[in-house]
Amino acid sequence: MRLTLNIWRQRDAASAGSMQKYELDDVSEDMSFLEMLDVLNEQLNEKGEEPVAFDSDCREGICGTCGLMINGQAHGPEVTTTCQLHMRSFKDGDDITIEPWRSDVFPVLRDLVVDRGAFDRIIQAGGYISANTGSAPDAHAAPVEKKKADRAFDVATCIGCGACVAACPNGSAALFTGAKITALGELPQGQPERYDRVVNMVGQHDAEGFGGCTNIGECTAACPKEIPLDVISQLNKDLRTALKQGR
Ligand code: SF4
Ligand code: FES
Repeated sequence: MRLTLNIWRQRDAASAGSMQKYELDDVSEDMSFLEMLDVLNEQLNEKGEEPVAFDSDCREGICGTCGLMINGQAHGPEVTTTCQLHMRSFKDGDDITIEPWRSDVFPVLRDLVVDRGAFDRIIQAGGYISANTGSAPDAHAAPVEKKKADRAFDVATCIGCGACVAACPNGSAALFTGAKITALGELPQGQPERYDRVVNMVGQHDAEGFGGCTNIGECTAACPKEIPLDVISQLNKDLRTALKQGR
């Protein structure tokens, strides 16, 4: 395939960025999207030009490090992570626009790399679990209702990629925060701090500057782990209970 790439280039957080055009020949449909960018960077290196900075780690869809706006969609046209998107989703002659996540709370550090530290601070605000679960075999011996265990596991698959924020017209991180609150709130070990946790995490969410949720649903549509929208209902329910308790 021959492709035209329009890529956001920005030297550092303080510089103004702009879109730059690159032509790429001979792209295989079996390449992942990031491998395609690797090929571009090899060519830029050979020409003595600055390679395009982008984030990746596992390249297996499990770490949440990668994330790009591809033709205006978070992680591109498939429901998957950018690293698991393959070039077979595009066709010969395509123009592809590649931008960093769109969110003021995730400032651009360089080119396509953003700072998602706000997610870490939300997690940190949630504090720790004080229940002593003993060693791993002891924890496994604690009975957990199957429905709750499945629900906790499903929502714990959130990889913190940030696509939900990038896709949300309000720039809300309610899906991410709701997933973390629900995962811990379903399990017996998560009960002692449950209601303080929701107040602190939502407080940090708002303090970071994320927007409020108005139930648009773009977040869940863009989520590569298909985290359901009802984690936000759970977040609101827990928050209401916590506020009624005077927390
Ligand atoms: S909820 Fe989905 S889109 Fe949002 S951070 Fe988690 S995995 Fe990524
Ligand atoms: S690089 Fe780990 S999820 Fe994409």
